Amino acid sequence: MNLNEIQEYIKDKLSEKRYYHSKCVMERSIELAKKYGADVEIASKIGIAHDVAKEMTEEEKLKYVKENNIEIDETEKVNTGLLHAKIGKDIAIKQFGFSESMGQAIANHTTGNKNMDIYSKILFIADRTSKDRNFEDLEYLNSLADKGIDEAVLYILDKKIELQIKKRAPIHINGIIARNFLLENK
Ligand SMILES: [Fe+2]
Ligand SMILES: [Fe+2]
Repeated sequence: MNLNEIQEYIKDKLSEKRYYHSKCVMERSIELAKKYGADVEIASKIGIAHDVAKEMTEEEKLKYVKENNIEIDETEKVNTGLLHAKIGKDIAIKQFGFSESMGQAIANHTTGNKNMDIYSKILFIADRTSKDRNFEDLEYLNSLADKGIDEAVLYILDKKIELQIKKRAPIHINGIIARNFLLENK
């Protein structure tokens, strides 16, 4: 599908609020793609599509993973909200014709992962810093982003992990793996 078709699909599938978020993430992804010399169209498609599975019910998500042979781990069993990332990847590949690596950016967007490519990193940052989110440290984050995209990704990983600790909630292992990977490869 082209960008317009994906946008129509998303508009149809999601609530107004979530569609607005998706559009804001797309806009932020475009800014970041320009900043880091990535393909703007690819980043736009990933940005608009990333939460395609976000409003599925728990029942629908569990049914989808079963029917599409998607493996789920212990943390995802407890926190099924996380599953919208893996399901989103699957839908984007099957419905929108995304490549594996474009789909992987969607799979990585909630927790992070090791070996994230530029599009994974762009989405990861855009999803937290889109204009609908009012990210509290946006200026600081932008200054980190000037030093390199990995610095910005690390900062967001720290924030996400801190939040899980404050909530006494489980931390998905991929977040830890992503953080260690970036620190070890600085
Ligand atoms: Fe999401
Ligand atoms: Fe999102």
